[in-house]
Amino acid sequence: MSTEGKLNKITVSTVRDMKHKGEKITMLTAYDYPTAAAMDEAGIDLILVGDSLGMVVLGYDSTLPVTMDDMIHHTKAVSRAVKRAMVIGDMPFMSYQTSAEEAVYNAGRFLQEAGAHAVKLEGGREVAEVVRKISAAGIPVMAHLGLTPQSIHQLGGYKVQGKESAAALRIMEDAKILEEAGAFSVVLECVPTGLAEKITSSLQIATIGIGGGVHCDGQVLVVHDMLGMFERFTPKFVKKYARLNMEMKKAIGEYIKEVKQGTFPGPEHSFK
Ligand code: KIV
Repeated sequence: MSTEGKLNKITVSTVRDMKHKGEKITMLTAYDYPTAAAMDEAGIDLILVGDSLGMVVLGYDSTLPVTMDDMIHHTKAVSRAVKRAMVIGDMPFMSYQTSAEEAVYNAGRFLQEAGAHAVKLEGGREVAEVVRKISAAGIPVMAHLGLTPQSIHQLGGYKVQGKESAAALRIMEDAKILEEAGAFSVVLECVPTGLAEKITSSLQIATIGIGGGVHCDGQVLVVHDMLGMFERFTPKFVKKYARLNMEMKKAIGEYIKEVKQGTFPGPEHSFK
């Protein structure tokens, strides 16, 4: 907040300044209005409407079935809640791979229809042209390297990327290429800490780690993981800051018991 009580909205310039001042950048995913409102009020910098939506909210086994319409629907809900944070819409599988024209059109939908301030997309040098064209249309792009879940079948599973020197070099080069193509930041997912540190110090744009170690300029987690709401599996890089799944089951169990016993609703919840 400024001295006049006005919100200092987070923009691409804020992200750049934070990197250069060494101030850590905080990012979480959100997919709905109340969660996004709580995050914004708590002071999160960036909110990603991730295509992880497919797994943690819609119950798919991967992010691949998520559509543009799913993403627009959820990004709208998040944007309605947010006053300060930057809202980033995650471009789903097949929304930017077929042609640069389609990619620019779909990226535009996130800003025009859904109120996002930026988009994110996965991939290295092969998406550089797309990043260049979307950025040239005035849409800030966050890149995503390392473990890129939309390529899960090509990667052969959810595992650490860039362990061998040739793979590490390729990720380093990709990061530079994406910076030159106009990306304003880059997510580094599941890469060794030392590699993320080298990339972070070699780029002018901010790195946001998820399983990338402490030297990244910022960190992101999937909100359902860090609040303990998604119990199917927990990646090593997740810290659970709460156990909401347990809390929910406890509250729902109490409700069931009280309704069965006839102790809810009481007089204080009923009308005369
Ligand atoms: O979809 C998502 O939530 C993401 C984050 C893991 C970075 O891409």
